[in-house]
Amino acid sequence: MFKVLVLLDTTTVLGELDWKTFPVNGWDAITEMDEQNRPIHTFQVCHVMEPNQNNWLRSGWIQRQAAQRVYVELRFTLRDCNSIPWVSGTCKETFNLFYLQTDEPLPGRTRFRSTDYAKVDTIAADESFTQTDLGDRVLRLNTEVREVGPVTKKGFYLAFQDVGACIALVSVKVFYKRCPSTLRNLAEFPETVPHMDSSSLVEVRGACVENAEERDTPKLYCGADGDWLVPLGRCICRIGHEEMDDHCRACKPGYFKAFAGNTKCSKCPQHSSSHDQAATICHCNKGFYRGVKDPSSMACTRPPSAPRNLVSLINDTALFLQWMPPINTGGRSDITYNVLCQRCDGGDGIVTQCEPCEPDLRFIPRPLGITGTSVAILDYAIYANYTFHVEAVNGVSGLGVAPRSLANVTVNTHQAGPAFLGIVRKDWTTHNSIALSWSEVEQPTSDIVDYEIKYHEKEQEQLIYSSTRTKSTSVVVTGLRPSTVYVFHVRARTSAGYTAFSPNFEFATAAEDIADQGQVLVVVTASVGGFSLLHTVMFLFVSYAPVPFSGIKTYVDPDTYEDPTQAVEEFAKEIDPSYICIDRVIGAGEFGEVCSGHLRIPGRKDIAVAIKTLKGGYMEEQRREFLREASIIGQFNNSNIIRLEGVVTKSELYMHLSTHLSYSNTFFPILSGRPVMIVVEYMENGALDAFLRTREGQFTVLQLVGMLRGIAVGMMYLSDMGYVHRDLAARNILVDENLVCKVSDFGMSRILEDDSESAYTASGGKIPIRWTAPEAIAYGKFSSASDVWSYAIVMWEVMSYGERPYWEMSNQDVILSIEEGYRLPAPIGCPMTLHQLMLHCWQKESSQRPSFNDMLSFLDKLIINPSSMLTLVNDALSFSDSPEEMPDYPLFISIGDWLDSIKMSQYKSNFLAAGYTTPDSIATMSIEDIKRIGVCLIGHQRRIISSIQSLRLQLHHIHQSGFQV
Ligand code: ADE
Repeated sequence: MFKVLVLLDTTTVLGELDWKTFPVNGWDAITEMDEQNRPIHTFQVCHVMEPNQNNWLRSGWIQRQAAQRVYVELRFTLRDCNSIPWVSGTCKETFNLFYLQTDEPLPGRTRFRSTDYAKVDTIAADESFTQTDLGDRVLRLNTEVREVGPVTKKGFYLAFQDVGACIALVSVKVFYKRCPSTLRNLAEFPETVPHMDSSSLVEVRGACVENAEERDTPKLYCGADGDWLVPLGRCICRIGHEEMDDHCRACKPGYFKAFAGNTKCSKCPQHSSSHDQAATICHCNKGFYRGVKDPSSMACTRPPSAPRNLVSLINDTALFLQWMPPINTGGRSDITYNVLCQRCDGGDGIVTQCEPCEPDLRFIPRPLGITGTSVAILDYAIYANYTFHVEAVNGVSGLGVAPRSLANVTVNTHQAGPAFLGIVRKDWTTHNSIALSWSEVEQPTSDIVDYEIKYHEKEQEQLIYSSTRTKSTSVVVTGLRPSTVYVFHVRARTSAGYTAFSPNFEFATAAEDIADQGQVLVVVTASVGGFSLLHTVMFLFVSYAPVPFSGIKTYVDPDTYEDPTQAVEEFAKEIDPSYICIDRVIGAGEFGEVCSGHLRIPGRKDIAVAIKTLKGGYMEEQRREFLREASIIGQFNNSNIIRLEGVVTKSELYMHLSTHLSYSNTFFPILSGRPVMIVVEYMENGALDAFLRTREGQFTVLQLVGMLRGIAVGMMYLSDMGYVHRDLAARNILVDENLVCKVSDFGMSRILEDDSESAYTASGGKIPIRWTAPEAIAYGKFSSASDVWSYAIVMWEVMSYGERPYWEMSNQDVILSIEEGYRLPAPIGCPMTLHQLMLHCWQKESSQRPSFNDMLSFLDKLIINPSSMLTLVNDALSFSDSPEEMPDYPLFISIGDWLDSIKMSQYKSNFLAAGYTTPDSIATMSIEDIKRIGVCLIGHQRRIISSIQSLRLQLHHIHQSGFQV
């Protein structure tokens, strides 16, 4: 509300007013006294009977002071002409208001000139008279306010012109308005005179009240009417002060305020106090602390007490420590544990000496800052005494002088298996394999079950271990990179558990173009001694070379032969081309046509064959490459691997063509020059993918599983031989008339150039992306485990009758989605158990995938008990484009992949450290267990528990179907 400053008020002027009248007999000045003896100045005029009245009354000189806009309030009575008899024509009911500005009062003798005055307004009465009920007329007082100006000079006069009315001017008040001084938003604004121009505002900056500070410049605008408008910005109370009645007052003792703002002072948090006024923080009571990152509003806390019930446990792979959280957490939830290790070995009669443990002892998840209540320790020495101190710490540990909160346990590792004392030797190497052997474990305390061989590339940015097992004391590690140093270590599994690992042994693979030592021996001997000697040496070689699994031949890479022709001679029979009858062309291969025909060896039964031909005009290099496949297939002898009948490499030509085939260009290569052919058994139903596509829905699940079983048999055979196929896909499986499936297309195992599905990867290799395991795509790590991945894609192709894996998704999208945890959903009508088996094979971690042996025994169980395949996967479990919507992985998945799939990968080590390593153990977990292992966020707890619930359902189903994990 505006403030009024009065320049003149006739009611308060005690002395003479000294107003002038012109003519002197016009207006009359009448001064009477009121009850308090104060003068009442009134001016009257009433010459209503006389025409042409022009009576002027002029005020004294009024100083303008700070006013820019001046207001005049007039209180007067004005008689209604009708109430005066005989005055018609001359009586008026208005008067005029004028003003004149001057910088100083006019001299007393100045003549009055009406033309010097500026008119303000003609004033009429609101109500001249009011008729009462009795008919009397009562004179009413009118109040009119007019704005005068703008006034710019130092002062002014007011003038009242009467032109024949009957007026009594009772009071005149002259004033101007101001915006009053005010407090807004903790800022003070001074009294302000509005701007003369009614449309412009005066901007006023406020000053913060005491103990307040500017947040945004406080401002107000003074409007023309003296009102404050548009408050902007504000001040806030300083730390230690709170707002109260537009001021900032200090916090009382026992309260504090740590931040500037218009909030109230807070009571000191628990275990803290403030003794003075205006406290900005409360100080912790004795024995309590505030962590560096603790907010001032948090209660002061204490270090925790020691962990409880610390126990150690040794199983066959690791030493575990487990404990319970301390009774007293010190009032905090950020407890972590540090495991400190000492090795205390004392000789006979000698005082035990303790020293820090070996630096290569591995702690899982880590030795310090453990959030769960357990740790696994690996690579410890056996026959050693370790003392572990588990310390509970929280955010205020170490701030006071309190002793450390430790629990101790001593572990004697005699309980573990025997030491592995053997020396690991390298027997031979090729560019992609190394044969190792070692002596038996000395003085094993228990029977040796098998050996585990762990290895990794020595120069590797990220340490990726691979491992393999063997029952014998030798192994051929395959799938290695040429000219690369590998670090191996071996341990034995005994019935009493694992031995410690052997020391590290480093061996390198041979360069790609140099034949390995063993093979050089073979070749040199062969070229000196001829074919029969070669045979003998090869026999010796196979006999004495270490083999991973007794009784099964090891595959010999034909590339290790200096002259691949010798490999062909070694592994493939030469066929006289005159025994071959070609019927028709059935397809086109990379090197030439594929024909069907018959092999008619005299004295033997005719057999149907497929004949792969090499186009005429071939180069020597192409001939070698073409025959390479024969030297691979020729090494295999299994009912589910395509059988090689022989090769034609040496003949000068002449063969029989079936009568209905003319000599045509089709056979030009055969007819022009030395024919080169690979003859294999004929598979009536051709490639599996095309076969299934033309027979959609025509087989029973059992028939489809039967086909898959055949492929698994073939693949198990190959992996046992140490052969990695690299291009296993339904298009490379052939089907005979009895639906027997056989693995074929072996030429591509080295380079996958010829497969139309192969695409270039970042590393430059060509790979059939949709069929290939991620580690093989990413860094060329092909192995039987990557073949297992491809096998599961074949399973999917079979169960979906030849559907294209990942449909029309681009290769890039396939790679990305696999990386994100997506997997192909079950094809419609696919038994749930089969899809689970597929998912098991599509685990990111290759070592977690089943072997072909596992696959075969699982498929056999299904075939024996077909009712286990009755549960079909709900059609709703379709391929989802978001990991959130993915169905939970079933039983077969690793814990790591399961957590990845539900986006909770960060807790892998918590599960592992707490000993939850199998789906069965996970399925038993309650929400309390999940909290206990260190999952603190409620959202994460919920996500994990709901996934566990669905895992339980799946487990229930699997256990019913009789599958043993
Ligand atoms: N296509 C390629 N090889 C074949 C075979 N062995 N039998 C039938 N068709 C084939």
